[in-house]
Amino acid sequence: NLKVKIKDFEFENPLMNAAGVNCYTIDELEEIRNSKAASFVTKTCTLNTRQGNLEPRYYENELGSINSMGLPNLGIDYYLNYLESLDGTYFLSVTEMNTENIHKILEKINESSFNGLVELNLSCPNIEGKPQIAYDFKTTDKLLADIFKYFKKDLGVKLPPYFDLAHFDIMANILNKYPIRFVNSINSIGNAIIIDENDTVVIKPKNGFGGLGGEYIKPTALANVNAFYRRLNKDIKIIGTGGVNTGRDVYEHILCGAYMVQIGTRLQKEKSKVFERILNELKEIMKEKNYNSLDEFRGKLKTL
Ligand code: DHB
Repeated sequence: NLKVKIKDFEFENPLMNAAGVNCYTIDELEEIRNSKAASFVTKTCTLNTRQGNLEPRYYENELGSINSMGLPNLGIDYYLNYLESLDGTYFLSVTEMNTENIHKILEKINESSFNGLVELNLSCPNIEGKPQIAYDFKTTDKLLADIFKYFKKDLGVKLPPYFDLAHFDIMANILNKYPIRFVNSINSIGNAIIIDENDTVVIKPKNGFGGLGGEYIKPTALANVNAFYRRLNKDIKIIGTGGVNTGRDVYEHILCGAYMVQIGTRLQKEKSKVFERILNELKEIMKEKNYNSLDEFRGKLKTL
């Protein structure tokens, strides 16, 4: 039994894609829907279609990936219309360039018949001149206060990684004030550089600065999942994202406190058959350890 519950939403297992990967078109989303993944999240979308940044804007190596996509997406109406046609629980990822437009896009969802979970992305690192919202605690607090004056659907937030325990304290105190369903940690580690054998950056936008994913970021992801698990009200569930290549990685995210676990870089490399492989690996670990459900080991990380 690999079932996961977030509020009244039930999922067959903890696996899904991470926003940005294999989720731009309906064809890509259908591919995930027809895989062993229990749900999907759409590419983070905005009010209008966006082309995104110049290419090359994605690069991968043995240890992970770097991207500066620049939020290419087909616009909220495209994803909302598709989601309104589906049964089952799926995640709609949204953001905008300023708080006024974030309210506009959420108003639109509020008035739709969408009945899944909204993932409000507060952590896109790739838009020039637009800081990651969730690194600005005051703006985040005000934004959430304003959202919950009118927003009636189920919403969670996608956060960037934090690197200081004081920042976990501050952010958790803010989030605990609101009826948030989930916190998704982490988005990519923002504004990294990878250099190739010609002494050159590997992506074009922003002089090569981009968001890091994959094996590079697993320790940071696990720390963020566990830090929020220790601090958030128990009715705010954690979604763990970052560095998941194997069943063992999913197991570790759950040990740290994760409910759902998302796969990004590895899904890009291996395509949607990755879900079946990793589920089998997770089942094998649970069998060895005599666990019958995820609840038996979630958050049971041992300390010295
Ligand atoms: C993009 C990257 C992100 O990490 C994110 O959260 C949203 C958008 C992008 O560059 O498209």
